[in-house]
Amino acid sequence: MNYYLGVDIGTSGTKTVLFDVQGNVIASKTEEYPLYQPQNGYAEQEPADWANAVLHTIAAVMQKSGVEKSDVKGIGLSGQMHGLVMLDRDNNVIRPAIIWCDQRTAKECEEITERVGAERLIEITANPALTGFTASKILWVRNHEPENYAKCAHILLPKDYIRFILTGEYATEVSDASGMQLLDVPGRCWSDEVLQKLGIDKALLGKVYESPEITGTLTAEAAAKTGLCEGTPVVGGAGDNAAAAIGTGVASDGKAFTTIGTSGVVFAHSSQISIDPKGRVHTFCCAVPGCWHVMGVTQAAGLSLKWFRDNFCAAEMQTAKGMGVDEYYLMDKEAEQSPIGANRLLWLPYLMGERTPHLDANARGVFFGLSAMHQKRDLLRAVMEGVTYSLRDCLEVFREMEITVDSMMACGGGGSSPLWRQMLADLFGCPIQTTRSKEGPALGVAILAMVGTGAYSSVPEACAALIGTDKTCMPDADAVPVYEEYYQLYREIYPQLKGQFAKLAAL
Ligand code: XUL
Repeated sequence: MNYYLGVDIGTSGTKTVLFDVQGNVIASKTEEYPLYQPQNGYAEQEPADWANAVLHTIAAVMQKSGVEKSDVKGIGLSGQMHGLVMLDRDNNVIRPAIIWCDQRTAKECEEITERVGAERLIEITANPALTGFTASKILWVRNHEPENYAKCAHILLPKDYIRFILTGEYATEVSDASGMQLLDVPGRCWSDEVLQKLGIDKALLGKVYESPEITGTLTAEAAAKTGLCEGTPVVGGAGDNAAAAIGTGVASDGKAFTTIGTSGVVFAHSSQISIDPKGRVHTFCCAVPGCWHVMGVTQAAGLSLKWFRDNFCAAEMQTAKGMGVDEYYLMDKEAEQSPIGANRLLWLPYLMGERTPHLDANARGVFFGLSAMHQKRDLLRAVMEGVTYSLRDCLEVFREMEITVDSMMACGGGGSSPLWRQMLADLFGCPIQTTRSKEGPALGVAILAMVGTGAYSSVPEACAALIGTDKTCMPDADAVPVYEEYYQLYREIYPQLKGQFAKLAAL
């Protein structure tokens, strides 16, 4: 029997899953790590935490499963996108990684736009300069920590740092590299023009592969630490969203998914490149060779609810522990007791600035309409609804771009909440389906490993064979018009506050 490992290096933790060739889970293990916010708008993590979590979870999964190590035929890596890992000549990490939700680089984005030209930048990288993307983080280090920049010999994305730890190779693949703002996205290779205009040496970057290609094999040292065989192939893998697409079977035109993890994403596959001239949604290479995807991002989706839980739900956390259930299950039950519209309370989920559709690093979270009659259940419901309004904003941009969506899958932690799925169905006005496997990105990259090592001949073929749907949530005809009124009001609030967010940031 052949087995494949999917490793997902997320923001809250790393999840490693061992699958058989039918995509069944054999064993799985998650290890969490901290996110550091040394200043308002900053977000950093320690690459050593990711590396330890990956090595521990692979070793744990191998031990738990009892699978013969020589039967593990391939490894796929997925991970949070955009983060900047800098290594010196001796491969030491120079500074903590500046990760995707960090918002410190507004000035560097202006610098990028000035150096490359707004239109040319979108033509080449398919996106406007964004604080979340890696290029602005590289420029920030060069501008603010020249001593660190001078030491830098290698620039890697989070999962590609793990690839280096496992294989010793400096490499990436097209889906994650698309989020660096240094890739020629239509051409699927580094852009010499952008690199030259930004003054970044191409030698700092890894080799770019397509997602199912083999990028290297496990070193003896990594094999000893993980309990795997030296020489086990590691394929390109994919950024977490491109990986989730494969894990939910979104690998052909008309297919789309929504995920509510730390961030929230609405993602549609596209065999033709399609770019929003206003840059409100991202266009990236996807994990199916030769194809792309468009993707809208809510910065703080699951993060909004986690923030609320951490600050206001100690009682729920304690009760959940006592009952042996997930605290989010109890929070869902509480939110269900509040009506649609949360008794006239709205939440703007801009805790970490916002990407789609505002592209505003200064935006911040807002409860709008708080009254003395509101209870915690209303606030909880408002948070979930606000995140869903923001995801609907993403879908509105797709509609403007005439991107066809025939089927919408849901995944991520939020996708497992029946209440959240119903909100998505009511606000998107379409059925929301879930897949039988809940492993999303980890399954996605295990599938890429299966394709890369010859178990299947193509990614769409493997998806057709391995991904099945289970539940379908239909829009509720009575709820749809009620949500619609709240959504239209939600859309009016940000434009009224845009100037004030900027003033707040300048205080
Ligand atoms: C996508 C994005 C996030 C991260 C973290 O552009 O920034 O989805 O990948 O999950």
